[in-house]
This record gives sequence, structure tokens and C-alpha cells, in this order.
Amino acid sequence: MKAQWLGRHLRATQTFVLQRTVIARSDVCCRKFSTTVSSSSKAKILEKTFLEKATYGPGLHEFINVKRAPTHISSEETNEEIQVPYLLPENYNGQGRKVFFEVYGCQMNTNDTEVVWAILEKNGYERCHEAQQADVIMVVTCAIRDGAEQKIWHRLKHLHAMKERRSARRGPLQITVLGCMAERLKERLLERERSVDVIAGPDSYKDLPRLLAVSRHYQQSAINVLLSLDETYADVMPVRLNADSPTAFVSIMRGCDNMCSYCIVPFTRGRERSRPIDSIVKEVQILRDNGVKEVTLLGQNVNSYRDLSNIPSNVTEQITNSKVAPGFHTVYKTKVGGMRFDELLRQVAETAPDMRIRFTSPHPKDFSEDVLRVIRDYPNVCKNLHLPAQSGNDAVLERMRRGYSRDAYLRLVDTIRSILPNVGLSSDFICGFCGETEEEFKDTLTLMEHVRYNVAFLFAYSMRERTTAHRRYKDDVPMNVKTERLQRMVKVFREGATDLHKLYEGREELILIEGKSKRSDEYLFGRNDANIKVIIPLMALPDEMGMKREITTGDFIVTRISGSNSQVLKGTPLYFSSIRQFYSHRYEDKNVTKL
Ligand code: 5AD
Ligand code: SF4
Repeated sequence: MKAQWLGRHLRATQTFVLQRTVIARSDVCCRKFSTTVSSSSKAKILEKTFLEKATYGPGLHEFINVKRAPTHISSEETNEEIQVPYLLPENYNGQGRKVFFEVYGCQMNTNDTEVVWAILEKNGYERCHEAQQADVIMVVTCAIRDGAEQKIWHRLKHLHAMKERRSARRGPLQITVLGCMAERLKERLLERERSVDVIAGPDSYKDLPRLLAVSRHYQQSAINVLLSLDETYADVMPVRLNADSPTAFVSIMRGCDNMCSYCIVPFTRGRERSRPIDSIVKEVQILRDNGVKEVTLLGQNVNSYRDLSNIPSNVTEQITNSKVAPGFHTVYKTKVGGMRFDELLRQVAETAPDMRIRFTSPHPKDFSEDVLRVIRDYPNVCKNLHLPAQSGNDAVLERMRRGYSRDAYLRLVDTIRSILPNVGLSSDFICGFCGETEEEFKDTLTLMEHVRYNVAFLFAYSMRERTTAHRRYKDDVPMNVKTERLQRMVKVFREGATDLHKLYEGREELILIEGKSKRSDEYLFGRNDANIKVIIPLMALPDEMGMKREITTGDFIVTRISGSNSQVLKGTPLYFSSIRQFYSHRYEDKNVTKL
């Protein structure tokens, strides 16, 4: 309740700040639009307006998001009507202006872009597929490592040149920076990259139609980067950027409270907040009815999901159901009450039994046995877990503030493999974190050798301002050492994955076909339940009526695996199937939910 109030209050404050900016800029606009008053009388009127405001203070309308300020102010002195160019909601309409999206970073950014596109489409914008055709270019940014940021600075330079070259006949090109870099680098973006017209942080996308209109009308930059305590975009149905894809994303929560010492995410994305279960289930139903075959539930800390929307304030104390995996702890106070991730997963799985359900990105601490049992009991919840370890050394894990030891992590892996014997595991690792010695690094390699992962995301540490590591430690592992350690991690990962993938040879796997292989039009690619890429030849198979038809995107195909390497499996397609058909006999004898 308090969080919601604070969120609303923050948004009101943000509106106030923006409105004042617009008022301050109204001088520029009066010069442009008003032809009925002299500049001296105009100055007096503006001064009077300001004095009135200063005397009586801001009214309620100052705090309301959509301005409904009068378009006319009468002047006693001059008795003249003055045109004050306030923007009205109807001015927020894009009137067919073409938007082009450039998306960097994680899947959350892709899904956020779909939210942004839903908002803009509703407000009269059109989408285009080439930057050259665009009136508005939206760069959705990532700030997690310096490399990601440099790429975007480089791109902004290019866009700046494009803006300069644009012919006056086409009207100005608006460049918009969204996402994680927006909050972090707003001053630099405004001062150095003077071509940026709109800057919007991850929680202010609903404000975009107004920000675009403000910047267009006043020819000034417009910015809103305030983070919210309650914005989840639960009321915006994202419009998919690739409507033909058999896979889709659904954001279920935003933000992160973990504060790992190396990570910028809590600062760019803010506090954790979850969408109500009902709104998620509804979105999954719509995707299911539109023929989507696989949904990935998204969140910065996805399995820390907790729907507090239906909890009466007086009962939260009784439902203390924080279930952190044994041996794990958090930097924040234990959270109580609400509907947790296992319940959400169960409801989503039951809503769409013919659709695969995946989720990312989780934190190991939130893999309670309750969650693992739901994954086990529903054939459509993929047996594939991301388990970011980051390091295999206790001292490094402590400096990283990950909240677990090597031993606790390994015990969790054992628990997971005992409940989900064929699970596919993936992980994130960072090498060269502040103070990491050769001995400490070797513990990461031995952990990777011991666990063996199907997929791994391996990074050299990149110091980020504002993080705890930035304040507390020195980025003292030389770049050449980081690079060398990264290569050693890649080698160990590949050896483990090669061995694991060999075990699939000869097995029958259910593959969801996602499209043509990049290398050849004569091959298709899909993924198995464990999220490993599988390449199959493009061919025809008999359908349920016995008629042959070509395999296509969105088909579930039972495939015999015939070859493998550390990256992909290769297979021979056998027959069309569905999740329910394929798993029916596997789930039949067990005391588990039948779909
Ligand atoms: N440097 C390198 N890698 C990082 N990650 C997060 N912050 C940093 C950083 N400062 C990695 C972590 C995380 C993944 C999304 O990115 O491994 O799990
Ligand atoms: Fe960053 Fe840690 Fe949160 Fe992941 S859990 S987003 S690494 S702070």
C-alpha cells in the first residue's frame, strides 16, 4: 500500500517537474505562435502568471498527468487574447509518423519494445522496418557492461549524422533513447549527444506520446527517467514485433532487489514489483488463442515473483511464505505474503497445456522445492533451468554479494537433478571480478567442470559506476588476464557441453520448429525441451490424416538425434506431435498432474 502510494506520489512529482519545464520553455513557444501581443506586454503577462503561481502555489491540475491547461489567458491590461501553446492530449497523436526500433540487450528490452509499440500504435504512430524511412528512431539501450554502452554511443553518432543530412521537406527526425542507459546517462546524452530529442527510462514508456509531442512542438529535448515503485505495464497488451514467430515473451515482474555488488540493474530498473497473476494468465490465453507455441515469462529476477495485489493488508503477517533455497540468503528483509512463482507457474501451465512455458532470468535462491515440483509435474513447463553461478569461489561470491557459497550452489544443483533428472542447465559466469586471484578463478573452472552446463553466458568483468563494487573495490585484474580467463572458461564450458550433448545421440526429442537455419535454406532449426538448438533437414512428413506436408515454423516434431557438438544437436525428423501426445506415456504411471 505504502509502495503504491509512494509510486503514485513519485509520478505526480515527475509530472510537476515536467510541467514546470514546459512553462519555463513557453517563452520560446510564445515567440513562435502568438502574433497578437507585443513582447513587452507578453513578458508582463508571463511574469504575472508566474507571480500568481508563486503567490497561490500550484493547484491540483499541476499534479495531474495529462495537462488540461486553458489555451487562452485574458489580460486585464491589454484586453487582448493571448494564444498560449499548451499541448493538449490530441497533440500527442503521432498522425502516422513512422517509428523504427533498434533493440539492444536482453529479452526484457525486446518485450519492453513491444509494450512501447503498443502504446505508440494506439497513439497514431506507424511502424517501419528501415531507419531511412523513419520519422522517429527509438534506440532501446542496455547498460550492463561497458561494451554494450560503447556500441550505442557509436550508433548515436551515426544517427546524429543522419539527422543532420535529413531534408527539411521531410520534417525533423526525432531520436529517442529508451531503456537502461537513459537513466544512467541522461546528462551526458543531453549535453554531448545534442541530437537526442527524447529520453525515457524503463518505467516511463506510457509518457512517450507526450514526450514526443513536447519535443516536437517546442523543439527541445524532453526527458522522463523516474523509476516507479508500482509500474508493471500490466494494463498494456504488448504488440509483438515479430507476429509470425511461434514464441513470445510475457513480462511478469520488473526490477531487482538483490544488489549484487557488480550489477547496475537495480539502479537502472529499480525495485522489484510483480504483475497480478490474473493479468498474466489473460495475456497467456490471448497468445495461446493466437497460435503461439512457446511463452517465456520474463523478469530481472523472475522466480522472485510475488503477486501482492489480492492480499488484504491485515492478513499479510500470517502468510509468511518466503521459501528461499537452503543455504541461500538475501540482502533484503524476508518478504512475506502474496502469491509466489510456483503458483503462477502452475496457473500458466494449466492455462495452455499445448504451449511450452519457459522463464528467465532467475536467481538460484528462489528455486524452492515447490517451484521444482511444479516444473516436474507439468509436461509443458520446460525442464531447463538457468542457474547463474557467477563464480565458483566463496570469497569472490562474498565480494559479489550473491548470498550463497559454492557448497550451497552445488547442493541446489543436486536437489534440482534429483527432482528433474533430465534437466538442461545454463549459467552466467563473470571472470576477473575485483581482486580475483588465479586460485579463486580456478574454483570457477572446477565448478563448471563439476556441474557441466548445456549453455553458458561468459563475461569479463566490467566495472559499473554507482555499484557497490565501484565504491568498495578496485577493478584490478588487467584486461589481458580477464581475456585469457574468459578463453579458459569458454574451453571448459565447451568440453562439458560436448559431453552432455553426446548423451542425446540416439534419443527421440520433441522439437519446436522456429524457422530456417541461418546456414542453409534446406535446413530448419528448433529447440528441444532443454532449450538446445536442433538442426533438421527441411522435408515432408505425414500429418494426422496421412497426407504428406512440409515441416514448417511452429510445428512440434519428434526427432531422432543423430549428431552433436557443444552448440547444437542434429537430427532426423520422425513425425508430427504435440506436447500432450509426446509426454502422455511418460507421465502416465506417475502420481503427477495429467493434462
Ligand atoms: N560485468 C560483467 N558481467 C556482468 N553481468 C552483470 N553485471 C556485469 C558486469 N558489471 C552479467 C552477470 C549477469 C548477466 C546478465 O550479466 O553474469 O548474470
Ligand atoms: Fe543484477 Fe544480481 Fe539483480 Fe541479476 S540478481 S539483475 S546480477 S543485481
